[in-house]
Amino acid sequence: MPDMDTLPSPEALAAQLRRPAGTDAEDVGARMSEANAAVNRRAVALLDVGAGQAVLEIGPGNGAFVPELLAAPGSRYAGVDWSPEMVAAANRRNARAVADGRARFVEGDAAALPFADAAFDRVLSVNTLYFWTEPQRVLAEIARVLRPGGRLCLAYGDRGFMQRLPFAAHGFALYDREDGTALLRAAGFGEVAHHAHAETVRGNAGDLVERDFHLLLARRG
Ligand SMILES: C[S@@+](CC[C@H](N)C(=O)[O-])C[C@H]1O[C@@H](n2cnc3c(N)ncnc32)[C@H](O)[C@@H]1O
Repeated sequence: MPDMDTLPSPEALAAQLRRPAGTDAEDVGARMSEANAAVNRRAVALLDVGAGQAVLEIGPGNGAFVPELLAAPGSRYAGVDWSPEMVAAANRRNARAVADGRARFVEGDAAALPFADAAFDRVLSVNTLYFWTEPQRVLAEIARVLRPGGRLCLAYGDRGFMQRLPFAAHGFALYDREDGTALLRAAGFGEVAHHAHAETVRGNAGDLVERDFHLLLARRG
């Protein structure tokens, strides 16, 4: 059993997941990338970054999956996260790729992406949709920076599963498969393929918890 005195309140945990900050941020980032490894790896595989392609990740946290996103020769990576602590952690973790000019991490808001039109072949975002107060604005920005024919992979926990997590009651916007698909279609992504990811993990209290995710793979027309 974990020491209950050291667990943050659901509200405090929700704030850290939204935007890791302060002395706890690095630890939060490490826990997120560990807990979310399987769904991130699934998203990376679906995105299928090709040789020489440019990929943008929105909300990479500590950038744990950058090496996998850069597996194709000559590919390049940019990550944008509004937490300065996560940008610093991602830079440290991926120091070699940054020094080689293949990866860069930028502090910024998904609703105003600091990149040129059609700059990317692929865009990825895992577990960030909940925090977008204006999802249509973010998706319009993603469509702007994706080249025509480029692909977006948007991955998020299903509303039903997320509603069972106490922290998700604090400012998370929740979506099921249909809501997420409708958002993408409204943003002009004509082709939207759905992939389900389910996993069973051990929760804080030692119990088994089923986690259901949606991965939407969309093509910019
Ligand atoms: C719950 S963590 C997910 C991290 C990682 N993608 C994963 O799956 O483990 C959400 C991350 O997205 C970032 N984030 C949330 N909303 C954002 C926004 N509007 N613009 C930029 N970054 C954002 C947070 O700072 C945090 O690093």
